[in-house]
Amino acid sequence: MTDQTPAATERPSSPRPEPTRHGSEIIGAGCYQPSKVLTNHDLEGMVETNDEWIRTRTGIRERRIAGDEDTVPTMATAAAEDALANAGITAAAVDLIVVATCTSDQRSPNTAGRVSNNLGAPSPVAMDINVACSGFVHALAVADQAIQAGTATTALVIGAEKLSSVTDWTDRSTCILIADGAGAFVLRRAERPGVSAVTWGTEPELTDAVVIEPPTNKFVQDGKSVFKWAISSAAGYASKTVTNAGYTMDQMGGLFSHQANLRIIEPLARQLGLSDRIVATDVVTSGNTSAASIPLAFAKMWQAGELPADTPFLLFAFGGGFSYAGLVARTPRA
Ligand SMILES: CC(C)(COP(=O)(O)OP(=O)(O)OC[C@H]1O[C@@H](n2cnc3c(N)ncnc32)[C@H](O)[C@@H]1OP(=O)(O)O)[C@@H](O)C(=O)NCCC(=O)NCCS
Repeated sequence: MTDQTPAATERPSSPRPEPTRHGSEIIGAGCYQPSKVLTNHDLEGMVETNDEWIRTRTGIRERRIAGDEDTVPTMATAAAEDALANAGITAAAVDLIVVATCTSDQRSPNTAGRVSNNLGAPSPVAMDINVACSGFVHALAVADQAIQAGTATTALVIGAEKLSSVTDWTDRSTCILIADGAGAFVLRRAERPGVSAVTWGTEPELTDAVVIEPPTNKFVQDGKSVFKWAISSAAGYASKTVTNAGYTMDQMGGLFSHQANLRIIEPLARQLGLSDRIVATDVVTSGNTSAASIPLAFAKMWQAGELPADTPFLLFAFGGGFSYAGLVARTPRA
């Protein structure tokens, strides 16, 4: 009998190339906001509050509230369509859809599945992620890692929320904060990574600080504890994010932090030494849209030409879980 096995030292004539690990980059951003504007003066007629209290405690002047026709999937789809148009590609190229939301009213199919169907995308992987207000940055990291691993090439990453559907409209401590909307990024495989490693985690002692739970299914929070954490701990994690990403703070074009409260965003920018850069303050006219807040602010500024191209920005979010997540993402190349 002849032994056909090659000798152990023999090398194959054409060795298989090492698998290449790519990065991803943002190639477009889009958003959707409902048409209904709810001002602080409107709220004065609904609960015991006033414009001055809301502006001085939160910075919010007005917010958008969904109409009956606006669902989490329809808003997510509209933001996705806007992002695809901004990127100059069609849904045919999309092989991964990740939606961050904590307010979808349907457990199955998930929102990503609905978006896929609405867009007519061929047969992408479609998953939802629920990490409340830090959900979008988590979703961006998951999509980036899928692209790095070679299991996707072009992703839609969406944050979409209808917080008005889980709001107690008689509770002045929460109803003045919340809003609805959606934002989306198109992420594509790239030789030079435009999305950094993520820095993420949880603060178990604050697990119950932000909840939407039965029997009321309404949003309740320990605002003071969250505020205290944001002022004392967020900058440390945000700073670590930039270091872990391989950048220095000096290289940052600016800051997109979760749009919860101007009294958190401005001190955070100051603590990081970013006050003189571009700092997103969309909360003033959009309120707190949870997982939608960062892509919504980013897409509006990108489409308005207010962001330099190919520039690294710090994205940092925190909220229910209690979770936080940060990464550095470059704006699209042009
Ligand atoms: C929610 C938040 C704006 C409240 O601000 P605050 O300065 O902590 O206000 P307090 O809750 O201490 O309330 C102060 C007073 O204002 C009153 N108040 C609360 N809401 C009010 C409103 N809408 N209008 C008028 N008065 C109000 C309170 O009843 C309280 O009155 P009292 O002193 O007579 O008891 C603030 O805590 C915050 O932004 N927290 C972080 C929230 C966050 O980032 N969440 C992220 C997860 S999405």
